Amino acid sequence: MIRRLSKEDIDQVSRIEKENFSSPWTRDQFIRCHNQSLIFSNYVYCKSSKIIGYLVAENIIDEVHMHKIAVEKKYQNNKVGLKLINCMLYDSKVNSKLKICLEVDASNSPALNLYNKLGFLAVGKRKKYYGSRDAILMDMDIN
Ligand SMILES: CC(C)(COP(=O)(O)OP(=O)(O)OC[C@H]1O[C@@H](n2cnc3c(N)ncnc32)[C@H](O)[C@@H]1OP(=O)(O)O)[C@@H](O)C(=O)NCCC(=O)NCCS
Repeated sequence: MIRRLSKEDIDQVSRIEKENFSSPWTRDQFIRCHNQSLIFSNYVYCKSSKIIGYLVAENIIDEVHMHKIAVEKKYQNNKVGLKLINCMLYDSKVNSKLKICLEVDASNSPALNLYNKLGFLAVGKRKKYYGSRDAILMDMDIN
C-alpha cells in the first residue's frame, strides 16, 4: 500500500536512506519535507505496517522535482520503486502538473533503467556532480 509520509514514519525512512546512500539525508531533512506538506509530495510504500520504500518530490509551480526514491535492499526488484513513481505521476497529472524532473548518478544503472522504462528522457548532464561521477538530468512531460 502506498500512502503519504507521516512524521512517525521518519525513523524507518531514515534507516532505508542510510542503507542505500553513502551521503544520506539526515532525519531533519525528511522532517523539513514533511512539515512543508503544501510544497512536498512525500510517499511511503508499506508492507503490513513496515515501510519498505519512499519517494520525496517537490512541487515547483507546474513542475514536480523528484528528490528521493529508495527501496529497502531486501525488497528491491519487486516493482516497489515503479509503483511509487506511478503514484507520484498519477497525483501530478490530477494536479495539472506539466513536467517531472530528476537527476541521477550516471553510474546508477538500476535507477536509470527504471526512469528510462517509465519514459523519462535525458536532457542534460552535470559533470562530476557526485565526486568523480556525472549526474544525468531527466525530464518527463505529462498532461
Ligand atoms: C532505484 C530503485 C528505487 C528501484 O526500485 P525497485 O523497486 O528496486 O525497482 P523495480 O522493481 O520497481 O524495477 C523497475 C525497473 O527498474 C529497473 N531496475 C530495477 N532494479 C534494477 C537492477 N538491479 N538492475 C537493472 N535494472 C533494474 C528495471 O528496468 C526494472 O524493470 P524490470 O523488472 O521489468 O526489468 C532501487 O533500486 C533503490 O532503492 N536503489 C537505491 C537508491 C537509489 O539509487 N535511488 C535512486 C536515486 S536517483
